[in-house]
Amino acid sequence: MAHNDLISWEAEDADTDFENRMVTTDYIPEDEGDNPLRPKTLSEYIGQEKNKENLSVYLTAAKQRHEVLDHVLLYGPPGLGKTTLAAIIAQEMGVNFRVTSGPALERAGDLAALLMSLDPGDVLFIDEIHRLPRTVEEILYPAMEDFTIDIMNGKGAGAQSIHLPLDKFTLIGATTRAGQLSAPLRDRFGVVLRLELYTPEELAQIVERSARILDIPCTHDGALELASRSRGTPRIANRFLRRVRDFAQVYSGGVIDRDAAKLALDRLEVDELGLDALDRRMLTAMIKHYGGGPVGLDTVAAVIGEEAVTIEDVYEPYLMQIGFLSRTPRGRVVLPAAYAHLGLEHPGTAGQQSLY
Ligand code: ADE
Repeated sequence: MAHNDLISWEAEDADTDFENRMVTTDYIPEDEGDNPLRPKTLSEYIGQEKNKENLSVYLTAAKQRHEVLDHVLLYGPPGLGKTTLAAIIAQEMGVNFRVTSGPALERAGDLAALLMSLDPGDVLFIDEIHRLPRTVEEILYPAMEDFTIDIMNGKGAGAQSIHLPLDKFTLIGATTRAGQLSAPLRDRFGVVLRLELYTPEELAQIVERSARILDIPCTHDGALELASRSRGTPRIANRFLRRVRDFAQVYSGGVIDRDAAKLALDRLEVDELGLDALDRRMLTAMIKHYGGGPVGLDTVAAVIGEEAVTIEDVYEPYLMQIGFLSRTPRGRVVLPAAYAHLGLEHPGTAGQQSLY
């Protein structure tokens, strides 16, 4: 990838437990750079079917008209392939892929210099775009709208504003928190794609593809076992694949089958649904101390010693997807399926025959 000097991934401010989580969706070095597991074209990209179909129309239409693709906002939980999809868009358009992130652009001048260095048609990818400082964000408005930039020359009373044209480009913004974008920024994206958690079947296909690339023998059942514990997230599935390979090599002749996957993930304390000790601790604390809710997000955060944003972005999407938790106007509520999974009795079903 050209210009990867711009790449800058911010480490989360997280406590040690979180950093060591096997199911973390944080970037780790093995996820980065020329990761051979990253699909390079839309046809290699598994899942996100609706988004892919629509995107493929937009790409074809833009290429037919010899125009740049409209600006794209990608949003959804971490680890679902936002950067990968952005790189694919650049590849499909046949242009450079330039990468930066909201927190890396500290001053308006940083972004101005970057915009002026783009070649015609380039894709500029800004990860964590919700963390752009306001003064930097304001440079983006005219740049996105009519490909111009206003920069100040000099200081004080003698300062002059210079209005410069830019080459046309496509901005791709990625965020886990679309709700935190300001309306003027959000409204300037012509294409908004929400990435969804993957189904176990889609993740199993991703695992089988990765296993082929890494030359790891893996049965379909093994891939599915691994996939169903990966909480809908390819980044987690691919990380598990590497760890499970180690266990399979030492204990089961190197082949990842169902038993090898089970054994390894049990050892890593990731249960059949992909929950780890922290998820279980959070749900148990909500049940034991707050009767299962409703509990306010900040209270949950204080009880388990985790940041509220991490709970919202990383823990909750999956727990909601599997029907363990709901967000209500009065707070978070633990649902009966979570009680059953944890072996606890749900007050509403006490005395009734269990459905689980
Ligand atoms: N690796 C990570 N995400 C992927 C995806 N969506 N398709 C194929 N391989 C992947």
